[in-house]
Amino acid sequence: MKKWGILIVALMMVTTVLAACGQNKNNAAGNIPANNQGAANNGAASKKLIIGTSADFPPYEFKIKNEKGDNEIVGFDIEIAKEIAKDLGAELEIKDMQFDSLLNELESGRVDLVISGLSPKPERAKQIDMSKIYYKAEQSIVSLTENKDKYGSMESLEGLKIGVQKGSIQEDMAKTVPNAKLTSLGKINDIIMQLKSGRVDVAIIEGPVAESFVKNVDGISITDAKPVTEDEGYVVGVKKGNKEMLDQVNATLDRLLSDGSIDKFVTEASALAEK
Ligand code: ARG
Repeated sequence: MKKWGILIVALMMVTTVLAACGQNKNNAAGNIPANNQGAANNGAASKKLIIGTSADFPPYEFKIKNEKGDNEIVGFDIEIAKEIAKDLGAELEIKDMQFDSLLNELESGRVDLVISGLSPKPERAKQIDMSKIYYKAEQSIVSLTENKDKYGSMESLEGLKIGVQKGSIQEDMAKTVPNAKLTSLGKINDIIMQLKSGRVDVAIIEGPVAESFVKNVDGISITDAKPVTEDEGYVVGVKKGNKEMLDQVNATLDRLLSDGSIDKFVTEASALAEK
């Protein structure tokens, strides 16, 4: 009788431990629990913060060869990500992907945050939660330098072939240009190549990114046309309902905004992108 009693108690303990493990797994699918475990952290001791980004977007996020000759993802969004990870006491992991995959990756918990020059388009709020706005910039029209004057107004873009990033607010903007023929591509580099080869007439790109490409690629310029959008500014994407993570991200952004760090990160990243 006594033996059975011990066995039952032992079994109960095993079940409790197993149940606790199961819970950890669930939490690891994106809800940052109290101990801050990252999306792919299946109970390991170190905390991890996995961010998703599309590293085709200098000075926000882009690739460079570091001193060791390895590819490294840098940019002012990445500096912000490092600060968020630091405040969470977590190790940062960056997952590079196409821009139009980011929100699904966040929704399914394969990344903890999206930091990718993400604009606060109201429709996106159905799928993800968004932080406060941490930076603002304008939109630009880029063309071959020889066409710069020809495409100097938004009206002049009517009926043109327009290159945009797939899933971006620029794609929405291009759709409002009468009779425009859209080419939506995964990476900004490919849009620039299409522009260079004449397969698109203009591209709509975020101002700072357009400036960076114009400095690095011969024969392309920013025209005087001024595209407008209501989805102004950039936010960090957080998994829907993860209030704790959202609060933590906003707290870090508050700190970086109030001490001038974000402006400093932008200046540094812009200089790095020019090299
Ligand atoms: N701001 C635009 C948007 O949210 C484009 C962002 C593209 N970001 C990138 N890393 N390529 O739709």
